[in-house]
Amino acid sequence: MKIAKTVASARAFCQKAARPVVLVPTMGALHHGHGALIKKARRLAGKDGAVAVSIFVNPTQFGPREDFSKYPRRWENDLAVCRSGGVDLLFAPAVGEMYAKDHSVFVDASSLSQHLCGAARPGHFRGVCSVVARLFLILQPDLAVFGEKDWQQLAIIRRMVRDLTFPVRIVGHPTIREADGLAVSSRNAYLLPAERQAAPGIHDALRRAARGATRAAILKEGRRLIGKIPGARLDYLELVEAETLEPAKNRVRPMRLAVAVFLGATRLIDNIAVSTRS
Ligand code: PAF
Repeated sequence: MKIAKTVASARAFCQKAARPVVLVPTMGALHHGHGALIKKARRLAGKDGAVAVSIFVNPTQFGPREDFSKYPRRWENDLAVCRSGGVDLLFAPAVGEMYAKDHSVFVDASSLSQHLCGAARPGHFRGVCSVVARLFLILQPDLAVFGEKDWQQLAIIRRMVRDLTFPVRIVGHPTIREADGLAVSSRNAYLLPAERQAAPGIHDALRRAARGATRAAILKEGRRLIGKIPGARLDYLELVEAETLEPAKNRVRPMRLAVAVFLGATRLIDNIAVSTRS
C-alpha cells in the first residue's frame, strides 16, 4: 500500500494506476462501516484496478462550535484497516496540502443544503463539496463510494457531480448497523453508557414510524417515539424526496425518513427508505 502525504505523489500514483480507480473519501477513525465501503470499493476495482482511501479531517466542514479539534484521529488503527482491506493508495494530506492559506474558492450546493442537517449546520456542505471536489480533481477516480447514513451528503455529492460534470460514478452503500440497529458512526464513541443504551431507539423509531399511512402520521409517530427515548432531544425529523430532499408531500417518488437527535452532547443522524404510495 502506497501512503501519499502530498498532492503531487497521490496524483502521480493515480495517473499511473490501472483503471478503474475507486475512491473512498473518509475523515479517518475508520470503523467497520468504513471497512464495508472499502470492501465494496475493492469489489468494484476488481483485481486489476486500484482502491484509494483518503483520510483528511476537513476543517472547512466544521462549524466554529463543532468538534474539529477533538474529532478522533487514530492513525495506526486506520493503517491496519486499509492494509487489511486491500487498499492500494492511502492519501493522508496535511491541511496545508489541501488548502492554501489564502484559499478563497468554494463549491456550494445551494438548494440541497437548505434542508435537514444543512439548516442546523450552515456552511457544512459547502466544506464537504469543496473538499470532495478537490479529491476528485487530485485523484481523478472513476468511481467513488459514500455511505447512505449521510443521505444528504450523498444526494449533494451526486448533484455536484451532475452539475459540474465530474466524470465520476457515485456509488451509495447501505448503512452499516450494530446488531441492535444503531447506525455505525465515529461519533458513537462519544456516547456515555446510558446514551449508548438508548441510541438504538432512534432506528427503531424510524422503522415503526415509517409504517404510517400518511406523511402527517409518519412524522407524528416518529416524534412521539423519539420523545420516549431517555435523554433524547430531537433536532429534526423529516420525510423528504430521496433525490431533491424537498419535503415529500404526495409520496410518489422514492423517499427517506431522516432524523437528527442529540443524546447528551452527541448529535446522531440516521435515515431509512420509505415506500411510495401504491
Ligand atoms: O463523510 C465524511 O467522512 C466526510 O464528510 C467526507 C465525505 C470524507 C468529506 O470530508
